[in-house]
Amino acid sequence: MATSFMNSFLPSPTFVQTNGMVIREPNRMRFPLRIVKAVREVWNDKPLFVRISATDWAAGGEHVCRRSLEIWGIEQSSLFAKELVELGIDFLDISSGGILYDEESPPVEGFQAPLAARLKKDYPNFTIGAVGSITSPHYANDFIKEGKADVVSIGRELLRKADWPLWAANELGVAAKPACQYEGSLHHMLS
Ligand SMILES: Cc1cc2nc3c(=O)[nH]c(=O)nc-3n(C[C@H](O)[C@H](O)[C@H](O)COP(=O)(O)O)c2cc1C
Repeated sequence: MATSFMNSFLPSPTFVQTNGMVIREPNRMRFPLRIVKAVREVWNDKPLFVRISATDWAAGGEHVCRRSLEIWGIEQSSLFAKELVELGIDFLDISSGGILYDEESPPVEGFQAPLAARLKKDYPNFTIGAVGSITSPHYANDFIKEGKADVVSIGRELLRKADWPLWAANELGVAAKPACQYEGSLHHMLS
């Protein structure tokens, strides 16, 4: 389920109410939760993954009101995650917003990963994914080993380096086997 879609209904700055009123949770979460509930019902026991934007990265933090718009953040995401878990989703992937002109997202590797770690701490038995500007195999591996998330997803780095998984395996000193068809062209990775 797409995060942009979900968060459009968590009255963050993406959502302007016609009457200019701020909606407070739990009302803010009602619509996306209703959708997840409906999907869960028709999806039966098949895996249901949900990605959320865990913060708007607003200067001044969450619960800041700007022109009647209440800012979304990790504290509210934790409440939202609890409801999602109770609805029986199988996996929660933690992204974040990029919609404020003055957002304060840190320009570092794994900039969203601490948000995933926080939700993993809140819900240790739940399957949580970290994503966003993760490029180093050691960073990814340590994050999972330290129990900060269950899954780390890599996006653009795989586009930049198509053989990243094999290179990462080499870096971490573990064996990996490419598809047979590719072995001939990957001698440099398999020494
Ligand atoms: C141009 C662009 C737009 C993106 N838009 C969204 C988005 O709206 N919602 C979201 O959760 N992730 C969005 N992402 C993140 C990707 O879905 C994906 O999770 C991310 O690229 C994976 O992280 P990485 O590429 O930094 O490894 C976007 C990424 C890019 C490059």
